[in-house]
Amino acid sequence: MATLNEIRSHFLDYFQRKDHAVVPSAPLVPQNDPTLLFVNAGMVPFKNYFTGAETPPWPRAASSQKSVRAGGKHNDLDNVGYTARHHTFFEMLGNFSFGDYFKEAAIEHAWELLTKEFALPVDRLLVTVYADDDHAHSLWKKIAGLPDQKIIRIATSDNFWSMGDTGPCGPCSEIFYDHGAHIPGGPPGSPDEDGDRFVEIWNLVFMQYEQFANGDRTDLPKPSIDTGMGLERIAAVLQGVHNNYDVDLFRALIAASQDLVGGPGGPASDPSHRVIADHLRSSSFLIADGVMPSNEGRGYVLRRIMRRAMRHAHLLGAEDPLMYRLVPTLVAQMGEAYPELRRAEPAIVDTLRQEEERFRRTLGRGMALLEEATAGLGSGQVLSGETAFKLYDTYGFPLDLTQDAVRAKGLTVDLEEFDRAMARQREQAREAWTGSGQVAAAGEWFAIRDRLGPTAFVGYDDTETTAELLTLVDGGREIDRAEAGQKVQALFDRTPFYGESGGQAGDQGDVEWDGGRARVTDVQKQAGDLHVHHLEILKGALTPGARVRLAVDPERRLATKANHSATHLLHAALRSVLGRHVTQKGQLVDGERIRFDFSHGQPLTADEIDRIEAEVNAVIRQNLPAETKLMGAQEAIEKGAMALFGEKYGDTVRVLTLGRALTGEGDYSVELCGGTHVARTGDIALFKIVAEQGVAAGVRRVEALTGEAARRYLLEQAGVAKALAEQFKTPVAEVPARVEALEAQRRKLEKELGDAKRQLAMGGGSGGAAAGPEDIGGVQVLARVMDGVGGKDLRPIAEEFKKQIPDGVIALVGAADGKASVTVAVTGQAQARFNAVELAKAAVQAMGGQGAGGRPDFAQGGAPDGAKAAEGLAAVKAALAG
Ligand code: ALA
Repeated sequence: MATLNEIRSHFLDYFQRKDHAVVPSAPLVPQNDPTLLFVNAGMVPFKNYFTGAETPPWPRAASSQKSVRAGGKHNDLDNVGYTARHHTFFEMLGNFSFGDYFKEAAIEHAWELLTKEFALPVDRLLVTVYADDDHAHSLWKKIAGLPDQKIIRIATSDNFWSMGDTGPCGPCSEIFYDHGAHIPGGPPGSPDEDGDRFVEIWNLVFMQYEQFANGDRTDLPKPSIDTGMGLERIAAVLQGVHNNYDVDLFRALIAASQDLVGGPGGPASDPSHRVIADHLRSSSFLIADGVMPSNEGRGYVLRRIMRRAMRHAHLLGAEDPLMYRLVPTLVAQMGEAYPELRRAEPAIVDTLRQEEERFRRTLGRGMALLEEATAGLGSGQVLSGETAFKLYDTYGFPLDLTQDAVRAKGLTVDLEEFDRAMARQREQAREAWTGSGQVAAAGEWFAIRDRLGPTAFVGYDDTETTAELLTLVDGGREIDRAEAGQKVQALFDRTPFYGESGGQAGDQGDVEWDGGRARVTDVQKQAGDLHVHHLEILKGALTPGARVRLAVDPERRLATKANHSATHLLHAALRSVLGRHVTQKGQLVDGERIRFDFSHGQPLTADEIDRIEAEVNAVIRQNLPAETKLMGAQEAIEKGAMALFGEKYGDTVRVLTLGRALTGEGDYSVELCGGTHVARTGDIALFKIVAEQGVAAGVRRVEALTGEAARRYLLEQAGVAKALAEQFKTPVAEVPARVEALEAQRRKLEKELGDAKRQLAMGGGSGGAAAGPEDIGGVQVLARVMDGVGGKDLRPIAEEFKKQIPDGVIALVGAADGKASVTVAVTGQAQARFNAVELAKAAVQAMGGQGAGGRPDFAQGGAPDGAKAAEGLAAVKAALAG
């Protein structure tokens, strides 16, 4: 029986033999395509080849494309776990012709692969064609010899495929597999076609048109082919199982989750195991492509998927976070076909573990609230939208998680009420944001980019240029004029200004034009490659079309370059000194400093910091030229470049090499980076770590300085040492010994002073309160006011007196620093008559204080006014006298 991995290879090998370029899967995050949340079909990365916007490097191609259908238009999330064939993540096998072959060859290839290579029985196959596609109908007859009743004409959109509302599209022909009469369901086009018996396994799209948003549909430059076959479906067919979750890959994942859950845990067919296996794949692949869980956009879809799986793990009775422990099994299954998965394994493990640990803190309480809210409800009833909102807002339950949770009871959620609660909260949030300078929503920037094109960035080579102002944006709207005093955003056709990205801050500088001047306070990147300049107009007025001169602040840029390059060296040094588990979690470099977050379990020791600084500075002193190479992403990965997240294969990427390895052969640091960097490592001059701290579980942050800032920092530190040396009148090198000696002396004096005070107090030399024990009502009492003795010193004195008065009462009232404190001890037989706490309370109250505490034989208290010490003592005596 062929495994899923073998089936994938067989497919790709077949098309390679048929002269197709085998293209690696593109990342799941579409590159600068505002219309799509995730890549959801094999043709998406090739969209521009079909429309003619880009020239394809090969006339025909084949791929196994990672696809996610969760969120957005194609959303299968809700069905996963409950059906035989839904997935949030799946692999789409496809062959493509970009104006090369068309219907006939497409049908020939498909038929040959299915019936010859995969040896599927012909009598189990049937096909559909678009109702008026006589050509396809006759080709199926000719090539496959299928009888008319097995070539079904379908008039609906089922047989007209389009990527979305816009883009390439065309009629399609689908191939179905008949799983047998024992499974309910009818052939396509029949009333019970929704049953599971006839399953679509392959869709051949005859790409002929391009659909535009305004309703126009034009012919493509050349008729083309796009096909899609779900790998999981064909694997089920070839492995003789009906349910996709019964193919070898899913069996392995489910066995691992059964193992980890332990105990009863539920059978492999439990929807919870299926949900976990599916969501593990989508979460891991999304993280590998650079998506991180967050509260918006793609990150929120990821969080919803992760949390849905985590609830199912909880449902199965998993005691500990589960998902991250399944990653090695997934990598073992899929890491060879998708090397990015293996490379990102540590990041996937960390991200899953942190999210699950965090979510588990509220999951239990949220589930309890949900139990309570649904206790009285039965099938067909509705959970209040306010409750669902509270679960969302307070307990972090995405809406679909709540829907999934109540589904078992046959309940639904009042969505209108949920939306109202959400709208109410958004309104409050918006009020809180007003005036914060929020810019136009991302979608609007994409529209602007479509119209104006990308900003040409010339800042790798220049810090000054002339340019044309293309548009001005204010408050999310385009405007046609900005005057002195206004703060606006501006787009130019070209710019030397770096837009904030990859953790490097945007540049600052000046804009000048005939009759005017503006200051660039920040530059942000939008819609992938628009550099949005934040301007403050200082003089004159600015209108689109103006010719301007753009100049980046050179000093700040130089410092930023040094900091950015040093960050790469720091990253390499951390991995060299601490270990390969260190990966970058975030960074911020600007003209002032470096902030670098990375995964590591414990604080850095002084010795580690020292070694890291020493390595970085050693590479700086090599003073080798920084090498920037443009290369294909694939080539970059093969060269071992780090931080490859979400690059599109086929794109050129910038790969920066800094320094030579300090031991052995090779380069010191190789990273993919679009930032601006020094010409030689020596330009960084000096590197100094100034702070190290933890920022989240398993994440540390290092702050560092370079060049002049590092020199100033060291100077300040030296200044402090010098000032101390002057004060102590000793050489700097001897300051620590001097401080140590002073510290020892201080400790000695403190001890001597304490002893002296105690002796003085005991000896009765203090303030004329030298009275010895007296008899009050038949009890021996030692009562004294002790000037200059604080509360903490009273205790040892009282202990000392207890030796002299084995049966009686010791009452001491100290007065120090303007405050009074009282200590009362009751010893021997006297304990039967007096309670130390009561006596201490009497004293405290007499002195205007609040209370006293302790045990019946020993109590202490305090009062604000030391001058009333004598009154306090008198109150104790009065209490003793009864
Ligand atoms: N693009 C086609 C599909 O996704 C093949 O079905």
